[in-house]
Amino acid sequence: MSASNQNITSVLKETRVFPPAAAFASAAHVPSPAEADRLRAWAESDPDAFWAEQAKMLDWFKPWTQVLDWSNAPHAKWFVGAQLNVAHNCLDRHLTNGRADKPAIIWEGEPGDTRTLTYKQLHAEVSRFANALKGMGVGKGDRVTIYMPMVPEAAIAMLACARIGATHSVVFGGFSADAVADRNNDAKSKVIITADGGYRRGKVVPLKANVDAALEKSPSVEKCVVLNRCNSPVTMKPGRDIWWHDAVLSADADCPAEPLDSEHPLFILYTSGSTGKPKGVLHTTGGYLLGAALTHKWVFDIKENDVYWCTADVGWVTGHSYIVYGPLANGATTVMFEGAPNHPKEDRFWEIIEKYKVSVFYTAPTAIRAFIKWGDQWPKGHDLSSLRLLGSVGEPINPEAWMWYHEVIGGGRCPIVDTWWQTETGAIMIAPLPGATPTKPGSATKPLPGISAEVVDKQGNPVPANAGGFLVVKQPWPSMMRTIYGDDERYKATYWSNYPGIYFTADGARRDDDGYIWVMGRVDDVLNVSGHRLSTMEVESALVNHPKVAESAVVGRPDDLKGEAICCFVTLKQGHAPTDELKAELKAHVAKEIGALARPDDIRFSETLPKTRSGKIMRRLLRDIAAGKQSTQDTTTLEDYGVLAKLREDEE
Ligand code: WT7
Repeated sequence: MSASNQNITSVLKETRVFPPAAAFASAAHVPSPAEADRLRAWAESDPDAFWAEQAKMLDWFKPWTQVLDWSNAPHAKWFVGAQLNVAHNCLDRHLTNGRADKPAIIWEGEPGDTRTLTYKQLHAEVSRFANALKGMGVGKGDRVTIYMPMVPEAAIAMLACARIGATHSVVFGGFSADAVADRNNDAKSKVIITADGGYRRGKVVPLKANVDAALEKSPSVEKCVVLNRCNSPVTMKPGRDIWWHDAVLSADADCPAEPLDSEHPLFILYTSGSTGKPKGVLHTTGGYLLGAALTHKWVFDIKENDVYWCTADVGWVTGHSYIVYGPLANGATTVMFEGAPNHPKEDRFWEIIEKYKVSVFYTAPTAIRAFIKWGDQWPKGHDLSSLRLLGSVGEPINPEAWMWYHEVIGGGRCPIVDTWWQTETGAIMIAPLPGATPTKPGSATKPLPGISAEVVDKQGNPVPANAGGFLVVKQPWPSMMRTIYGDDERYKATYWSNYPGIYFTADGARRDDDGYIWVMGRVDDVLNVSGHRLSTMEVESALVNHPKVAESAVVGRPDDLKGEAICCFVTLKQGHAPTDELKAELKAHVAKEIGALARPDDIRFSETLPKTRSGKIMRRLLRDIAAGKQSTQDTTTLEDYGVLAKLREDEE
């Protein structure tokens, strides 16, 4: 064990424990600690048999000859030789198992328009759009960019790609034209699917205009499909652009699901890493779908009559796995919402829960902290008695927020599942099994059966209880990423070089005396701003792109609402004055270059940046300066901040 880790002992005071209620446990998919232990022991002693048994929850066209092929590690192959189709599993099989007329998607748009699609209707829409894509020359293996608002057509586009074996790359609608172009070019997308715009707090986000700018620099893209969402004016380029409604007009509603190899690439999803260039995380078919479906069933304890709502955007992995693929594979009813939690008023979420009788609700700590700030009167004005389980994802949830969620939203009766995972892991890795795992506010509790997550020191040895260390995963799992699209070397260097043969998460964590894992945050140069991942270098390159900026260093600082705020130290080129106007200009510049989610919170002008003798920017010092601002966070979070600082020092 490294010397520094020995010094890191948490003095965490959180001791509250919430065991599952007997009535909840007895009806749960995993109903007892004994059953959870049995599953864990089985997965550990015979992982192939364990995963083969779980994989029976999917429909396979052709069986596998081998469960896991790890011979070309760290590139895994799961369910070798098997064939299946994700859209078939999410749609077709439900038409013959009694769910044809069950709502698959209940959608609500920001202006209040609503739409329900049954499994039968969704199947028809997906088939039709899949044929439309085929008509544009999209085939198996082609890449398709999806840049859409939160409308059912976003899910339809994803499933249509899956149906014909095209690989989708969804780009969050809040990203800039440049970000869309970079992703188009990295994936060499053939087609892009977008909308005229999407609604955000009463305004129209001009998606098509961004696409027009992006396509100036995206030579691979031949066609652009445009959904008319907002009736806003757009320019349609003849020969390239086609309206969604025209594309499906003549398309046949019959499109058989293509049998695909278990390792066929299902999607690429770009996420920030330690460098300025986002990584195209590649997920494939069989293993990914198993991970999404199994965890959705176990962690959310999904039952036939649940109305399930995940508030994420399909532009993030949470939307992929827990709005679209996991819920639909399980034949569940998934709610999709286009708007913001405080538009038109601060009770929009609670209104939706009451209106659709949502029973399982999955959101992010940053949203929960905003609800606390807005006041209890908003949820208290609504009947939330339909809720039976609550989930949290994206960043550590502070015990205060956990308790408020439990009491005010859950009425003290709903288990909370704090789910730790990453774009790279494809599915939830560490979380309570709500009928079996007693919860503790602020801990994601234990790794799920089959997931060998551990907290280790720099040498890879497990750290003692309550000491800080690095979160790793020792054995491969079905929904793990397969590579970084087009960059196997970066894949190996980023995730597999710290500990040979072991997956490095880049998160700092500790394990308590009961073996519960407490994830503290990233130890690399990735920021977690309101649950969104952002690289400090991406923001730095955007800043130095500005003609007045000479140099910049970007660090995160603890923030009561966002978790982390973006703090930028900037040195200016000769002759430019460090004014407040320039600060505003730089903030707007970064938002335009990357997207609104990257808008800096603080800009601090500085004559020079502190550097080591070898010229490396002293980030730790800057983080300390940035954090020096008054913070009213609970002590737990501040304590974690100190432990993380130490771990980062080990990493740097
Ligand atoms: C990073 C992954 C996959 C979910 C959405 C974010 C942080 C995520 C938790 C949690 C503490 C969490 C980690 C992780 N994170 N969930 N429950 N507790 N931290 O996916 O954008 O790939 O970010 O989010 O730091 O590494 P992502």
